Amino acid sequence: MLPLLFLLVFKFPCSFAASDSVYESFLQCFTNQSSTSNQLSNVLFPQSDPSYPSVLRAYIRNARFNSSSTPKPVIIVTPLLESHVSAAVICSRNLGFQLRIRSGGHDFEGISYVSDRPFFILDMFNLRSISIDMEEESAWVGAGATLGELYYSIWQKSKVHGFPAGVCPTVGVGGHFSGGGYGNMLRKYGLSVDNVVDAKIVDVNGRILDREGMGEDLFWAIRGGGGASFGVVLAYKIKLVPVPETVTVFRAERTLDQNATDFVFRWQTVAPTTDNNLFMRMLVQLITRNKQKTVRASILTLYLGGAHGLVALLQKDFPELGLKKENCMEMSWIESVLWWANFENGTSPDVLLDRDPDDADFLKRKSDYVQTPISKDGLEWLWKRMIELGKPGLVLNPYGGRMDEIKATDTPMPHRAGNLYKLQYSITWDEPGAEAERNYTNLVNRLHSYMTAFVSKNPRRAFFPYRDIDNGISKTGSYEEGKVYGIKYFTENFERLVDVKTAVDPANFFRNEQSIPPRTRSTSDVSRVSKLSMSGRTINMLLAALVCLSLSFGDI
Ligand SMILES: Cc1cc2nc3c(=O)[nH]c(=O)nc-3n(C[C@H](O)[C@H](O)[C@H](O)COP(=O)(O)OP(=O)(O)OC[C@H]3O[C@@H](n4cnc5c(N)ncnc54)[C@H](O)[C@@H]3O)c2cc1C
Ligand SMILES: *[C@@H]1O[C@H](CO)[C@@H](O)[C@H](O)[C@H]1NC(C)=O
Ligand SMILES: *[C@@H]1O[C@H](CO)[C@@H](O)[C@H](O)[C@H]1NC(C)=O
Ligand SMILES: *[C@@H]1O[C@H](CO)[C@@H](O)[C@H](O)[C@H]1NC(C)=O
Ligand SMILES: *[C@@H]1O[C@H](CO)[C@@H](O)[C@H](O)[C@H]1NC(C)=O
Ligand SMILES: *[C@@H]1O[C@H](CO)[C@@H](O)[C@H](O)[C@H]1NC(C)=O
Repeated sequence: MLPLLFLLVFKFPCSFAASDSVYESFLQCFTNQSSTSNQLSNVLFPQSDPSYPSVLRAYIRNARFNSSSTPKPVIIVTPLLESHVSAAVICSRNLGFQLRIRSGGHDFEGISYVSDRPFFILDMFNLRSISIDMEEESAWVGAGATLGELYYSIWQKSKVHGFPAGVCPTVGVGGHFSGGGYGNMLRKYGLSVDNVVDAKIVDVNGRILDREGMGEDLFWAIRGGGGASFGVVLAYKIKLVPVPETVTVFRAERTLDQNATDFVFRWQTVAPTTDNNLFMRMLVQLITRNKQKTVRASILTLYLGGAHGLVALLQKDFPELGLKKENCMEMSWIESVLWWANFENGTSPDVLLDRDPDDADFLKRKSDYVQTPISKDGLEWLWKRMIELGKPGLVLNPYGGRMDEIKATDTPMPHRAGNLYKLQYSITWDEPGAEAERNYTNLVNRLHSYMTAFVSKNPRRAFFPYRDIDNGISKTGSYEEGKVYGIKYFTENFERLVDVKTAVDPANFFRNEQSIPPRTRSTSDVSRVSKLSMSGRTINMLLAALVCLSLSFGDI
């Protein structure tokens, strides 16, 4: 193997030659498979295409994966038709390349567009139609749609309907729904996947299947188990939920000298048990006061009702808050979407259609579940550690309500009754480079390790959409490797996900660093490639692409 690699280095010294011949083979297969005679110049982007860098960058949402050393795909496929998706799956398999599926590109570890093996990207942004049936109070939503586009489309049809999903409008439906996304209506309506009633996917053989065609096990798996282990999600059918004409938001803050500790301590028991119409997110951040770092705790709220009712409710449940009507803002549901997304009062809902491409910070996120309230002493100890670290923050998202009523096994997302709130650890920075990345991820990792005594154990749970590579990594695709992160994300549902995977993709074509493994150990990569594609020519192309990838794309 090694002499061959050296040979290839000299044969293709950092040129596009190897990826060009891969592209020729792919194009031939793709044209045949999709029975297309149309121009494919806006569907297939080889590295030599002038648009390749901008297409690649358009949905990079984490600057950590926007560097010259980030591995790049050999081809980007941006399907316009469902048959293009089928062709992309079949032809990637034939050529022995990995296929990374990208919808909104918000994966915190860039798994939808980065791989350390030769790969293609299937970018779903063109498949984003949204069709709403008000009579049935349902909608079909293309995987490439953003949450902002979905909220906007619902608002155009009705001022008293909404959908429970994430608060960041540029998040993609494909990754968010398949991973089990949540937002500020989860105490009333559960997760997005609790309101999904049908789906359309392309399986490993390129077949297009709806719920009936795929069967209940696979339909279960793609509602929280992550789509990318099982196939390509084309669209989900969702049930819209009712929202009142008037909702209420407020923000309340306390610093340490304003008894932030009491505030957070009390929040822990109120937020997960209060009325289901009330969602109170808690942010714990560091601020600088008189040149000293201190902790500020802020509550951000959505109440599905008017200010009068909210004030009465919190006078009863959280009197220490001292909430008054003048602290509250009444608005329509769509205005609350904009408020939660940090847009200024008065911004038009049209901004929800803005895909805001090609801009991102450096991010690292981690997660935990808190199952018993942390004592005041514990919180005070935690504030000291946070001030020492100086940068990472926490987001506390209360559960309870509807989340307690849905069985842990109903969908793959198992963190239901018994979890008071989910913790997100967050650190965001703007200096490029590996050293800054090491420094900042180290800070957030230390905060995560300080929390060990306060959070769920055996397993220590994690929220799958908050992808964190430190939860474990699959190198060979084995069951044993997959179990390490699988148990944290899916607890008792992991085994059923493995069963579904074994049934629908036993050769493990749909794989990534944290995918669901099939039950039997998959064969090593090279023998898998030769089994799929046989020809020595393909293996050569593969190795050549591998060599070039690691050397030649410093200019992107
Ligand atoms: C700024 C920001 C805010 C966020 N806010 C929230 C929030 O409020 N609530 C919440 O729950 N989560 C939130 N998240 C996490 C988010 O839900 C996940 O990152 C989600 O996976 C993003 O979906 P995507 O389509 O944008 O991502 P992508 O990066 O495109 O995909 C994520 C994963 O899903 C796979 N995938 C994508 N599309 C498909 C498809 N069509 N078929 C099969 N597999 C597919 C990818 O291969 C990858 O493994 C946030 C993330 C960011 C960066
Ligand atoms: C074209 O596709 C058909 C089936 O879809 C297959 O049998 C045939 O081998 C393909 N031909 C080429 C040249 O790939
Ligand atoms: C903080 O708590 C103390 C006693 O618990 C109380 O006397 C004081 O008024 C509180 N301060 C604020 C700003 O709420
Ligand atoms: C938004 O601003 C307008 C005018 O500037 C004001 O009348 C309205 O009350 C504000 N709404 C909220 C919710 O603050
Ligand atoms: C990626 O880097 C380029 C410059 O190299 C920059 O213009 C672009 O805004 C960056 N995009 C993201 C998503 O960070
Ligand atoms: C990383 O941390 C080290 C040690 O604290 C420090 O010397 C260095 O300047 C930091 N580098 C960056 C880029 O933050």
